Amino acid sequence: MKNRFAEDIAEGLAVFPKKLSSKYFYDGKGDKLFQKIMAMPSYYVTRAEFELLEQRSAEIVKALGPSNHLNIYELGAGDGTKTILLLKALEKAEKSFTYWPVDISENILETCRLNVLEVVPSAEIKPINVTYEEALNYIEYDEFSTNLIMFLGSNLGNLNHPQAIEFLKKINTRMRPQDWLMMGLDKMKSPAQILAAYNDAEGITRDFNLNLLHRINRELNANFDVSKFIHWPVYNPESGTCNSYLVSTEEQEVTIGALNKTYKFTDSESIHTEVSQKYNLPTIEWLCEMSGLELKSVYTDKQELFYECLIKNLE
Ligand code: AVJ
Repeated sequence: MKNRFAEDIAEGLAVFPKKLSSKYFYDGKGDKLFQKIMAMPSYYVTRAEFELLEQRSAEIVKALGPSNHLNIYELGAGDGTKTILLLKALEKAEKSFTYWPVDISENILETCRLNVLEVVPSAEIKPINVTYEEALNYIEYDEFSTNLIMFLGSNLGNLNHPQAIEFLKKINTRMRPQDWLMMGLDKMKSPAQILAAYNDAEGITRDFNLNLLHRINRELNANFDVSKFIHWPVYNPESGTCNSYLVSTEEQEVTIGALNKTYKFTDSESIHTEVSQKYNLPTIEWLCEMSGLELKSVYTDKQELFYECLIKNLE
């Protein structure tokens, strides 16, 4: 794992334009900062999806149709706060289910398990501590059960469209005709509102972005002077893409001990660190079609900030 981290960092800093993957945001510090982001007034994403699930879970459960048993695989489950709303609705509708939360953080998985048990004491929970790519290999198929793969929080948005299609195609190969993919996607909206979500005045998102440099310093024995980089998110309303960058405030050199390499930055040179894609219905339909999937129903919250999509294999 660590080797892969070092290799990816080395590769990203050697190319032009420089880039680092947002998947490396989430070490212990990054997890905590993301929890803070989710509680920020300007970060509407988590609240919108929570409200949506509060308002629409009963309908979603109905739309999943009759089945003896539901196997729920949630990719990137986190603390389970949002999923609990759906699990409660399943319990209320007297549907039996097994919940398989998938997360790379063992800590958060245990938190998730306890949170779910507190609200649904009878729930059967089988945490899986792997990446979500790997988790697809853990899916079990039993002819009397329906599988539901959940991918909430607009996590797909960290992938550009070609990468998203590649991932959705993989999911597709793991779905039978009766199985569902439930995906939460952030909706395109006012550019000002989107930009504000990634550019909070308190600087929490800035710290979240800069933590990547701190992490490289910590784990790869590097000497980034983090005070010489600024956080710069940019939202493009044409593509619906919010890109985040770290921009060097002066010409500088950084040495990464573990790689035995020195990297040069020119004044104002950028490092791309994250894409947070926003979606409209035609784009969601196009992504599904390109992946051999079919968008069956879409739910939105009262403020129409967020989409929850129910998706099946294209027949
Ligand atoms: C967890 C990937 C959905 O892109 O909105 C929040 C991460 N980055 N603020 C997002 C994030 C900056 C978040 N996702």
